[in-house]
Amino acid sequence: MSGKASAAFTEAYGDEPTGLWAAPGRVNLIGEHTDYNDGFVLPFALPQRTVAAVAPSPDGTWSVCSTLAPEPVTFGVTEPGEVTGWGAYVAGVVWALRDAGFEPPAVRIALASDVPLGAGLSSSAALESAVLTALIDLGGLDVPLERRPAIAQRAENLYVGAPTGILDQSASIRCEAGQALFLDCRSYAIEQIPFDLAAAGLAILVINSNAPHQHVDGEYGARRKSCEESAAILGVPALRDIDVTGLAAALERLGDEVLRKRTRHIVTENQRVLDTVALLRAGSVREIGPLLTASHTSMRDDFEITVAQVDVAVETALAAGAYGARMTGGGFGGCVLALVDDDRAEATADAVASAYAERGFDAPTSWVAVAGPGAARLNRL
Ligand code: GLA
Repeated sequence: MSGKASAAFTEAYGDEPTGLWAAPGRVNLIGEHTDYNDGFVLPFALPQRTVAAVAPSPDGTWSVCSTLAPEPVTFGVTEPGEVTGWGAYVAGVVWALRDAGFEPPAVRIALASDVPLGAGLSSSAALESAVLTALIDLGGLDVPLERRPAIAQRAENLYVGAPTGILDQSASIRCEAGQALFLDCRSYAIEQIPFDLAAAGLAILVINSNAPHQHVDGEYGARRKSCEESAAILGVPALRDIDVTGLAAALERLGDEVLRKRTRHIVTENQRVLDTVALLRAGSVREIGPLLTASHTSMRDDFEITVAQVDVAVETALAAGAYGARMTGGGFGGCVLALVDDDRAEATADAVASAYAERGFDAPTSWVAVAGPGAARLNRL
């Protein structure tokens, strides 16, 4: 990707970039829709990433282009709504840094990415995080690592207008190679959890369902609203404040069946994250399988965010011998991850491809994901 970003830079602006920054997409091992409930998540960074080739701008404006959109979008200091389309992700980061009291340098940017778009792997967070890191480094801005995800999240929430939580930007910025990131989405406290699957003879197979994403924005917002409504009825700041021991009593107080289901998912999912972390800390990797599958069942039946393609991928992977499998990401399409013996990854991928062909679904794309590094500068030109 570095070569492609540099080439796009030279093509668009006629000179060389000053530096290259990269930020990864992510898969979330477990902890779905818990982030905006102040709960727990456990993502790891993908090797797939977005690379930003960057150099100062001669005239105080910001310009950005990409291998997919080679014609630069140029803007000055803006407010939310002024830059629309994909350039809003970059204008949003500039805006959010300024809003947080920092003075980002004016730069020209060219982007290249191999994070699949629209697959629930956080391609937008990868873009925001690469640009944010570049602006911070080039401008010599004193923005501690733990503050950065919230700045990128504000770009997405307030400038782009997507009501997402802190998961994706945290993963892209704070993950480390070979580790899963245990994040408390209330305090932003983290713990790096060693995640060396190969040493255990295991692999995480990521299966992109390639299902068309439908109703994502509206349904995401609706889930978020239901969770906030439940928390308000239960008199707690967020559903994080209900734990499994208080779940039965909480469900009794919620009259509405939909609110009950949404609440049950969040409360049990937070517990599954904690249980997964405890197993991984103890070196019991294979044993997390049932928790992954239980998470999927909860997303399917209680949070109601899965689609036929992801359910079939999970069922087929399990039938092919996976220790556990679940959809990862916001839902309504996207990717499934399956925990498999490393020598079973290919056979599992083949089984899912056959099941899709039988049902007339578009073919899935599968690969083994190894936990990669978080956002960083790639060189010192
Ligand atoms: C999307 C959002 C995240 C998170 C997940 C679901 O990826 O961007 O904030 O809510 O969905 O876990």
